[in-house]
Amino acid sequence: MAFVTCIAPVNIAVIKYWGKRNEELILPLNDSISCTLSTEQMCARTTVVASTRYNENKFWLNGKEENSNSPRLINCIKDIKEKAEKVESEASKLNVHICSENNFPTAAGLASSAAGYAALIAGLASLYGVKGDISAIARKGSGSACRSVLGGWVRWHKGELADGSDSIATEIAPASHWPEMRILILVVNDARKKHSSTSGMKQSVKTSAFLKYRVEKIVPERTDQMVKAIKTKDFETFAKLTMQDSNQFHSTCLDTYPPIHYMNDTSHAICDLVHAYNNIKGCNKVAYTFDAGPNACLYMLEQDVPEFFTLIMNVFPSDLDSVEYVKGMPLKVSVLS
Ligand code: PMV
Repeated sequence: MAFVTCIAPVNIAVIKYWGKRNEELILPLNDSISCTLSTEQMCARTTVVASTRYNENKFWLNGKEENSNSPRLINCIKDIKEKAEKVESEASKLNVHICSENNFPTAAGLASSAAGYAALIAGLASLYGVKGDISAIARKGSGSACRSVLGGWVRWHKGELADGSDSIATEIAPASHWPEMRILILVVNDARKKHSSTSGMKQSVKTSAFLKYRVEKIVPERTDQMVKAIKTKDFETFAKLTMQDSNQFHSTCLDTYPPIHYMNDTSHAICDLVHAYNNIKGCNKVAYTFDAGPNACLYMLEQDVPEFFTLIMNVFPSDLDSVEYVKGMPLKVSVLS
């Protein structure tokens, strides 16, 4: 018997991935950029055990047995076993039992599958002695998972090749590059989302003309601008691009037919508050971004946290399920309520 436990954090996209050009290989229509949180908060912890006694693969998520025949899970295990055969790993010939737990709401639009698949693939790679890039395998579990296998600021390149071998994640800058950066996560609702990102994306690719426009005309230039803003630590530009991209992703969801709504009234009120605050300050002090759910991720610099945090707690005393303060880069976390 051999076993390994891995921890992988969620990542928060500032240039969003939305739409696939190949469903099976999970190849995206556009590049995306995110920041991976620290391993101390919002993580998936996954244990993988390989044994001669197991006659099938099994998988538990948060203590409940899940379908281990999901094509994505099968694909990931198959890919990593192929790599393991090249290094003649004995463990790779055995079946595995996988046990994964998230320390934050699962499937509530907080990138739980990204953390989960990143931890699983890192665990399998370590168990089987596989070295080198594992982002292309994690990508086949959940697209955004490829960004969680690296720390700091990460770019997922859409790639050009039909087999997806160049659709990988690379580091833009390490976690230590922007030590003043902080993230506040406002958990507006921790329930499971109505539309999975998989079904939402499929619907958008089929019906939204705006998605095509976004992918071809907006994201390529915006991605370059974002890389530059991160590298030069230009918060003003970083914040503007982050908010614009979140808004455009949710506009694409609305342009989808039938439309998809991930944000709710509290989410919209948070956007208004951020713009009002930035307006009073005369520059961008805070940036919001929302994934496939109503929960807000707010980027800001450490010096601005106390004032903005107090404001949030006064304006939304009872609307939020919880507030998580991600003291970032390296991100050390304390849960405040
Ligand atoms: O990797 P998925 O299938 O969970 O899709 C994630 C999509 C967004 O979270 C909405 C955007 C992103 O880039 O993370």
